[in-house]
Amino acid sequence: NQPSADKDASNKYLREFLVEFQPDQIRDHLRKFTQLPHLAGSEQNLKYAEQIQSEWQEFGLDSVEMVPYDVLLSYPNKSQPNYISIVDRLGSEVFNTSLAEPVPQGYEDVSDIVPPYSAYSAKGQPEGDLVYVNYGRTEDFFQLQREMGINVTGKIVIVRYGRIFRGNKVKNAMSAGAKGIIMFSDPADYWAAGVQPYPDGWNLPGGGAQRGNVLSLNGAGDPLTPGYPAKEYTFRLDTEDGIGLPSIPVHPIGFHDAVPLLQNMGGPIPPNNWKGGLNVSYRIGPGFTEEFRTQKVRMNIHTNNQVTRIYNVIGRIRGALEPDRYVILGGHRDAWVFGGIDPMSGAAVVHETVRSAGKLLSKGWNPQRSVIFASWDAEEFGLLGSTEWAEDNAKVLQERAVAYINADSAIEGMYTLRVDCTPSLHTKKEKKDFLYTRAGTKETTGPMIEMISKLGSGSDFEAYFIRLGIAAGRARYTKNKKTERYSSYPVYHSVYETFEIVEKFYDPTFRRLQAVAQVRGGLIFLLADSQVLPLSASQYAVSLKKYAQSIAQLAQKHPQEMERFGVSFDFLFSAVENFTLAATDFHKRLETINTVRVMNDQLMYLERAFIDPLGLPGRPFYRHVIFAPSSHNKYAGESFPGIYDALFDIENSSDPQESWKEVKRQISIAAFTVNAAAMTLTPPA
Ligand SMILES: *[C@@H]1O[C@H](CO)[C@@H](O)[C@H](O)[C@H]1NC(C)=O
Ligand SMILES: *[C@@H]1O[C@H](CO)[C@@H](O)[C@H](O)[C@H]1NC(C)=O
Ligand SMILES: *[C@@H]1O[C@H](CO)[C@@H](O)[C@H](O)[C@H]1NC(C)=O
Ligand SMILES: *[C@@H]1O[C@H](CO)[C@@H](O)[C@H](O)[C@H]1NC(C)=O
Ligand SMILES: *[C@@H]1O[C@H](CO)[C@@H](O)[C@H](O)[C@H]1NC(C)=O
Ligand SMILES: *[C@@H]1O[C@H](CO)[C@@H](O)[C@H](O)[C@H]1NC(C)=O
Ligand SMILES: [Zn+2]
Repeated sequence: NQPSADKDASNKYLREFLVEFQPDQIRDHLRKFTQLPHLAGSEQNLKYAEQIQSEWQEFGLDSVEMVPYDVLLSYPNKSQPNYISIVDRLGSEVFNTSLAEPVPQGYEDVSDIVPPYSAYSAKGQPEGDLVYVNYGRTEDFFQLQREMGINVTGKIVIVRYGRIFRGNKVKNAMSAGAKGIIMFSDPADYWAAGVQPYPDGWNLPGGGAQRGNVLSLNGAGDPLTPGYPAKEYTFRLDTEDGIGLPSIPVHPIGFHDAVPLLQNMGGPIPPNNWKGGLNVSYRIGPGFTEEFRTQKVRMNIHTNNQVTRIYNVIGRIRGALEPDRYVILGGHRDAWVFGGIDPMSGAAVVHETVRSAGKLLSKGWNPQRSVIFASWDAEEFGLLGSTEWAEDNAKVLQERAVAYINADSAIEGMYTLRVDCTPSLHTKKEKKDFLYTRAGTKETTGPMIEMISKLGSGSDFEAYFIRLGIAAGRARYTKNKKTERYSSYPVYHSVYETFEIVEKFYDPTFRRLQAVAQVRGGLIFLLADSQVLPLSASQYAVSLKKYAQSIAQLAQKHPQEMERFGVSFDFLFSAVENFTLAATDFHKRLETINTVRVMNDQLMYLERAFIDPLGLPGRPFYRHVIFAPSSHNKYAGESFPGIYDALFDIENSSDPQESWKEVKRQISIAAFTVNAAAMTLTPPA
């Protein structure tokens, strides 16, 4: 096989690669891997791993290995179910929440459907008065405590799902002193107007509930082995000392079960933006109205933490010219139940990408760089499989990884494509047009609106991007944010995420999944086989300038303090200016020079240059100075997170001098890092 170093050959292969993605094949992959529940740590999830391993081998990858780790997982106790009850004066449970979701038609005989639960919840049976705290966001607790003067110490908090990552809600409830937290899916947040509940439509039925982990891991991976891969010989923390484990019971319910808990609540009437879509008053509490004053709420939670074996599947194509440069496409395989959308719509796309790549290899394609395909395990338990593998391979990856493309759920709506990525992947216009045109037409897949935004977290790219500093991106089909206000998608993490919901409603022709495959696959191809890496330092410069301006504006809301404590952003702007000049100069040289490998390495290592080995304050595994998951919502990305966090709520600081000192320290770290990154773009001599 001849290396396809020349551009024409590579372009020809790219066209063949993208044309090979077939809707029917994607449909078959999805059908095959959504027949049975395959929770992380289950036998079925191992079976799917073995099947993926053998099929990737048949498709023609150079090698496919199974990589196990032993990590802390969390399961309900099968003989002692979790539920919430209303208890009367005599201690009788006069209302109990349901123990399971009504199983969808056709799946009645399936065993091993795990009931809705909050993974890693503490065990316990707290009993007390409820307090309703809207979405449980930082600002909701501020409003509750500061404006309404309500203290939740010793109370059970009830919040609606949505807007932020559930682990942040739990953390906020714990910090406020609650002894338990209940999360419910409100129709205002999980119900699209004019759509029927599943199976007649794609809305969440009233008996459906959202599973999910409630950790605050901050990038640690396995809670018992922070920083190191969870191998057999690895030292483990005692479970009590595990990273990010909540200390209070947590439980999720659907909106049918939420009504009896909410309808008799007393206390103040909430502000309008705290009211959801149920026919209840949404009063804040604490506790029930006078008439029901003697009734309390009890949580019965018996979930266990347990060290369990998980399996990643790692497939490789050896690069022809630069085998020591890796381009990675990774996505998870484990699902809460069937995983029709999350994650198998994404896993089916990865499977099709491997099939198409195998076809191309058989036609003589030999990519310039190596390609790694990964099927991660235990993503739902806190990005565990991907983080352990990143820890296991950290030294090699920081030397050799060019980029990581993530492949979680490929659809969360039916409207248009959405790409979140590092600024250097904001591709040039021709490249984008090419991918977007390949990715279908308006008729089949909706309008091609350009939606490119920052990476947050909540999926497997986290350790690669935010801990190791590897350029990263993700792509999926999304909803119209302007008209569709619900969070994620209505049936998210419920038993109703079946193959049929995709086939009947989300993508009957499988053209949307094909489009996502073409964007994800196209990126992998271009990263693996372009002579000059498709990464742009200039695009990074544009974003840095924007982020610096916006963080400075945030600080400038406090002009007096800035003057009093001598806070200035001048050095940050100077560093951004230096970076911009270095980037412009770099790309000019790139057009004329023939030492491509040296400059490709500069492009590859540019993302690495934003890593601060000391990490962000209190978050040692979040080390990217430009991006981190928001401290208040893991799903959202924050730019210049160190400065942002130092400025957060600074007006209420009990020690303004200390707080503004920290702002100054963070600005200096940002300025230093950006300027240091600029220096990596200069010519070597
Ligand atoms: C599960 O519940 C049963 C019945 O109460 C109890 O005997 C058993 O110890 C529990 N299992 C674990 C792992 O806690
Ligand atoms: C709730 O469950 C408990 C424990 O199984 C049971 O004793 C009680 O009768 C149930 N209450 C209702 C209203 O079903
Ligand atoms: C809330 O109540 C607890 C216990 O009653 C008390 O220790 C705590 O100081 C109170 N918090 C506030 C902010 O008043
Ligand atoms: C809402 O609840 C009230 C009181 O329980 C009831 O009288 C009313 O009929 C309900 N409205 C609707 C639209 O269901
Ligand atoms: C930007 O570059 C100039 C010229 O080399 C240098 O004097 C200045 O210190 C740099 N800015 C920062 C923040 O390092
Ligand atoms: C916090 O600061 C905001 C904005 O200045 C102010 O409105 C609020 O009253 C403060 N809260 C407390 C508890 O001081
Ligand atoms: Zn997922």
